[in-house]
Amino acid sequence: MAPSLTILELAQSILKDATVLDQHFQSHGLPQPSFDKDGPSMVAFRDPETSQAHERLLSSTKALQLLARGPVNAINVPHWMATNAAAISVIDGFNISERVPLDGQVSYEELSTAVGIPRTDLKSILRMAMTDFVFHEPSPGFVAHTAASRVLVDSPLARALVKINIDEMMPAMSKLRDALLQHPGSQEPQQSARSLENNAKLPLFDELAARHPARAATFARAMENYASRIPASMVTSAVDWASYGEAVVVDVGGGKGPAAIALAQAFPKLNIIVQDLGHVCAQGREQLPEDVKGSVSFEEHDFFTPQPMRDIDVFYIRAVFHNWPDKYCIEILRNLIPGLKKGSRVVIQDPMFPESGKLSPFAEEFAIAGDLRMMALFNSHDREVKEWVELVAKADPRFQFRHVGSLVNPVSKMGTFEITWQG
Ligand SMILES: C[S@@+](CC[C@H](N)C(=O)[O-])C[C@H]1O[C@@H](n2cnc3c(N)ncnc32)[C@H](O)[C@@H]1O
Repeated sequence: MAPSLTILELAQSILKDATVLDQHFQSHGLPQPSFDKDGPSMVAFRDPETSQAHERLLSSTKALQLLARGPVNAINVPHWMATNAAAISVIDGFNISERVPLDGQVSYEELSTAVGIPRTDLKSILRMAMTDFVFHEPSPGFVAHTAASRVLVDSPLARALVKINIDEMMPAMSKLRDALLQHPGSQEPQQSARSLENNAKLPLFDELAARHPARAATFARAMENYASRIPASMVTSAVDWASYGEAVVVDVGGGKGPAAIALAQAFPKLNIIVQDLGHVCAQGREQLPEDVKGSVSFEEHDFFTPQPMRDIDVFYIRAVFHNWPDKYCIEILRNLIPGLKKGSRVVIQDPMFPESGKLSPFAEEFAIAGDLRMMALFNSHDREVKEWVELVAKADPRFQFRHVGSLVNPVSKMGTFEITWQG
């Protein structure tokens, strides 16, 4: 929705919210957010009042920028951001962050020789990135780290997310229009924008595993980063797990097991099996923390084949369905049937498509961007509740469906759904 406030009203609202944040830093003895290379790399708030002020501030500052720039610029700004993204991709691709000393500075000349990019090109790239506070020039002709450029050195998980934006998301987005023109309404991941861009004949996860093992590993690390930002309480409070006692829980497409680990730590009586593709299970086994080795195990299983396990109490499926168009989600659900007994539960947690105007503009943009990524990568979407109801009914009338609730977490708005098997 277009901003309803004037520039002055937005500025006043920003001042009010900035004051709330400032009081929060002062009363908790926290440092002010900064890009100082030794400063914290994340800005996050736990208490609802400060989080809301933070989100409002982010929404208002964007609205203020666009109002101040005007409508013609508003339709061009998104494309101009391609230059910002290109600069980051060069920095990542040439490992420039590693070549800049963590303390001190380096001249453009020296850096140019070290990374193999001509000085003039390097200066353009870095000066662009500096507009996003990635590196800075402490003195003319010299480059030094900021907290943002350091992230590429310090955090392999955060870097994996940067890499999949560069290697998978950006190229896929550039083909979104072509995919819609060539395959309107397609339900095939192989006809997605990302598949067109990569000339891929298999869905993303299979294609990466078969043709690009390094990118597959990066993707798994980026998913690990995504999962690490979902609070453990998201899964532990999804349903009344304690009431299931010594239940067997199968975490379908559970990745390296972040949800299974959180569940096992909170409910030690549960016996949890994580099912995923072979290479993901192997990594999960390697990284499994000692304290849950007795209750979490991994089993290779392709969810497009019938469930090999029997009489399972609970299937848990998080952030999987939004990767797949409806007809494949129906297949995944139907493939669970051999593993179900009367009264078995299927607990689903999945990002939801936001209702218009129900979230802050910042959160709504974040959620829709997530949905558009699903479209570009997989030809799939985040779903609204009524779309879930229809999907589950199509899969099998013996699935009794309940929308337990929805929660906005730092990653997205996730819905929780509980299906009871009536067969
Ligand atoms: C977005 S990740 C979600 C991971 C995990 N559920 C979580 O919430 O952290 C989707 C997962 O589905 C897995 N996957 C993709 N295709 C699969 C298939 N055919 N069978 C089993 N798992 C698959 C991927 O390897 C990946 O771990």
